[in-house]
Amino acid sequence: MRLLVLGGTLFLGRHVVAAALARGHQVATFTRGVTGAPPDGVRALHGDRDDPAALPAALDGWAPELVVDTSCQTRAAARNAAAALGGVRGYAFVSSLNAYRDWPPGPVRGEDGAVWDTDDDDYGPVKAFAERELSTALGDRFLTARAGLIVGPYDTVDRLGWWLRRLARGGRVVVPDALDQPIALVDARDLAGWLVEMAERGVGGPVNTTGPAGMTTLGGLLEVCRDVTGSDADLVPVAEEELLAAGVEPWQDLPLWLPREMAGTAWDVDTTRARQVGLPVRPVRESVADTWAWLQVAGELPPPPHGLARPGMPPEREAALLAGRS
Ligand SMILES: NC(=O)c1ccc[n+]([C@@H]2O[C@H](COP(=O)([O-])OP(=O)(O)OC[C@H]3O[C@@H](n4cnc5c(N)ncnc54)[C@H](OP(=O)(O)O)[C@@H]3O)[C@@H](O)[C@H]2O)c1
Repeated sequence: MRLLVLGGTLFLGRHVVAAALARGHQVATFTRGVTGAPPDGVRALHGDRDDPAALPAALDGWAPELVVDTSCQTRAAARNAAAALGGVRGYAFVSSLNAYRDWPPGPVRGEDGAVWDTDDDDYGPVKAFAERELSTALGDRFLTARAGLIVGPYDTVDRLGWWLRRLARGGRVVVPDALDQPIALVDARDLAGWLVEMAERGVGGPVNTTGPAGMTTLGGLLEVCRDVTGSDADLVPVAEEELLAAGVEPWQDLPLWLPREMAGTAWDVDTTRARQVGLPVRPVRESVADTWAWLQVAGELPPPPHGLARPGMPPEREAALLAGRS
């Protein structure tokens, strides 16, 4: 079928394109042409999705039957897609757990929790608005994937990547003394293939698209990172209070770490529906190993997308935390 990827040249969308090609679709991408080009065999359409005229002009008679939307970050982008693509057979949209008004800290019980309905342009409210706008246009042909942490090759958000590089460098590594906190993730390749399949089948409704609650822990993940990189790093747990007092920002400076009062619930996301509709769960080790293999050849990464700050703790701050600690 003719499958349009809104996005498709950075991370998740790139895997969507690969999955759609592998499943025999005629694939087009719609991007500004800033981030990169899709592979050969893909129709590269260009325009800014915030501009209402751009998508209809770029399609120029090429009528998509299926859409996978990885690139929606604004209200205008959602409105314009709803106006231009409301007639397709299946539309799979990438939202976020942040669409839920109460997440974080969560927990998320099923998909019926209240979503944001405010008018501001924060990330969660915009994703929730986009879901409403597109759902109104498409009805039960619209699926929204409320994604949690996405990992895998080509991830320029770089949270897992930072830990891989830091552990590979070896020596004494500051880690939060919360290694038993749960963590769940979804591999971008699993999510991508599943999004294409959901659009093909015209499956609709919201789905919490992350791994099963408790699939691993922060410590378990770091152990796999250490193993995969062949590192002899010595993990030095530092108390949460001390990290916070030193200005270490959870999630940002020590990626994937959440403060105690949030960690117990934020990772408690009910993914029963995702499992029922077949979202795969790849072994964590495979995601980590493949991300590390990609990092070996990726060169210097571009800045993270969507205006996100580059994650990770500066070496001098780590050294200060380690000083005087046995
Ligand atoms: N990373 C996570 O852990 C996480 C968690 C939850 C949800 N999410 C969501 O998952 C999705 C991840 O997507 P991705 O960034 O990996 O997707 P992607 O499709 O691989 O990359 C983003 C694409 O959007 C295009 N784009 C950006 N601004 C555009 C515009 N104004 N008009 C047209 N195209 C535009 C970019 O190309 P150009 O720059 O060339 O235009 C690029 O191809 C996002 O929707 C994110 O909110 C991520």
